Amino acid sequence: MKAVKLAKPGGLNNLTITQLAPRQPGRGEVLVRIRASSLNYHDYLVVQGAIPATDGRIPMSDGAGEVVEVGDDVHTLAKGDKVLSLFFPNWAGGPASPNDLRVVPGDSADGFACEYVTAPAQAFTRAPTGYSDAEAATLTCAGLTAWRALVTDGELRAGEVVLVQGTGGVSIFALQFAKAFGATVIATSSSDEKLARLQALGADHVINYKADPKWGQAAIDLTDGRGVDHVIEIGGGGTIGQSVAAARLGGHIAIIGVLAGYSMEMPVVAFIGKQLRVMGVSVGNRHEQQEMIRAINANGLRPVIDSHFPLDQIADAFRHQESGRHFGKICLDI
Ligand SMILES: NC(=O)c1ccc[n+]([C@@H]2O[C@H](COP(=O)([O-])OP(=O)(O)OC[C@H]3O[C@@H](n4cnc5c(N)ncnc54)[C@H](OP(=O)(O)O)[C@@H]3O)[C@@H](O)[C@H]2O)c1
Repeated sequence: MKAVKLAKPGGLNNLTITQLAPRQPGRGEVLVRIRASSLNYHDYLVVQGAIPATDGRIPMSDGAGEVVEVGDDVHTLAKGDKVLSLFFPNWAGGPASPNDLRVVPGDSADGFACEYVTAPAQAFTRAPTGYSDAEAATLTCAGLTAWRALVTDGELRAGEVVLVQGTGGVSIFALQFAKAFGATVIATSSSDEKLARLQALGADHVINYKADPKWGQAAIDLTDGRGVDHVIEIGGGGTIGQSVAAARLGGHIAIIGVLAGYSMEMPVVAFIGKQLRVMGVSVGNRHEQQEMIRAINANGLRPVIDSHFPLDQIADAFRHQESGRHFGKICLDI
C-alpha cells in the first residue's frame, strides 16, 4: 500500500511516499481502506517538526474509509461499513485519564496518510449517512472539537449568542452547529470576501478582526451591551483579551487554539469581574463523536470543504493551509 512517511526533523520536504504491506486484522481489529483524510493545524505542527514525532511516522490524525476485513470478536463493525477515525482512540467517554489521551494517530502513533490501516474496531465510529469519505474525514478533529466546545462543555441552548473566530475548520463547524441549535452567530475573519461567505452560511453578524482590532467591543454592541454566551477561542494569546471583552457576565470561553500566540498575560480582574467559565478543550471522546454523528444524521449538516488534494500532493496541501487562503477544511483524497 501507498503511505506517507515523515523523516526527522520534519518539514514539508521530509514527507516521502513509500510502499508498505497492510497488516491482517487480529482479534478485535478491523482493516480499513482509508479513502480520505483532512488537514488540521495539529497535523501541520507535526509535519513541520514543531510537535516532535518518531522518525518515519505516518502523519494525519483524521481518516475515513471502508471496513474491508474484520478480525475475530468484532461485533460493532462489519465489512462494507463506512467509518471515520477517532482523535483519541483510547478515550471511550467520561472524564479523560492520562491513558485515554496517550495515543493520537499521526502524532504519538501512525496516522492516516496511507491506503490501509489495521486497528482495534473501537478506534473508529460509523460515518454519517450519505457522507463522502472526505466529508467524514473532516469530523475527527475539527468537527468533534467544535461539538464538544459548544454542546458538551458549553451546553448550548437555542437563542444564545456564539462568537466564532476566523474561517478555519473548527470555527466553521462551530458556526454550523450553533445555527443548527438555534443560536445567533457572530463570526470574524481577516477577509471581507470570507465574511460574505460566512453570512451565506448563516452568520447573523460579521466583524473584520483586522479592520476592527477591538472586535470584543463590537460584539458587545451587536448584543445590545450584554455580550456573547460562548466564544470559540482559536487564536490563543493574541485574541483572548478581545474574547474576554466580548463575553457576557457568566459567559463561556472555549480555549481551543494557538493561531495568534501560545501565551498571554491573564486579565485576572476581568475574568473575576465577568465570572467567566473558561474551559480548555482537547478534541473529544468516542461517546461525543457518536452523539455528534447522530445529530448530523438528524439535521443533515454538511461540512464545508475548501479543496481536495491527492495523497501524493500532501506537501502542497499543507502549503495551501499555510497560506491561510482556505475557507473550511482541506482534504486529502487517498
Ligand atoms: N484544542 C483542540 O482540541 C483543538 C482541535 C482542533 C484545532 N485546534 C486548534 O485550533 C486552531 C484552529 O484550528 P483549525 O484546524 O480550525 O485551523 P485552520 O483551519 O488552519 O484555521 C485557520 C484560520 O484561522 C483564522 N485565524 C488565524 N489567526 C486568527 C486570529 N488572530 N483571529 C481570528 N482568526 C484567526 C484565519 O481565518 P481568516 O482567514 O478568516 O482570518 C485562518 O484562515 C489551531 O490553533 C489548532 O491547533 C485545537
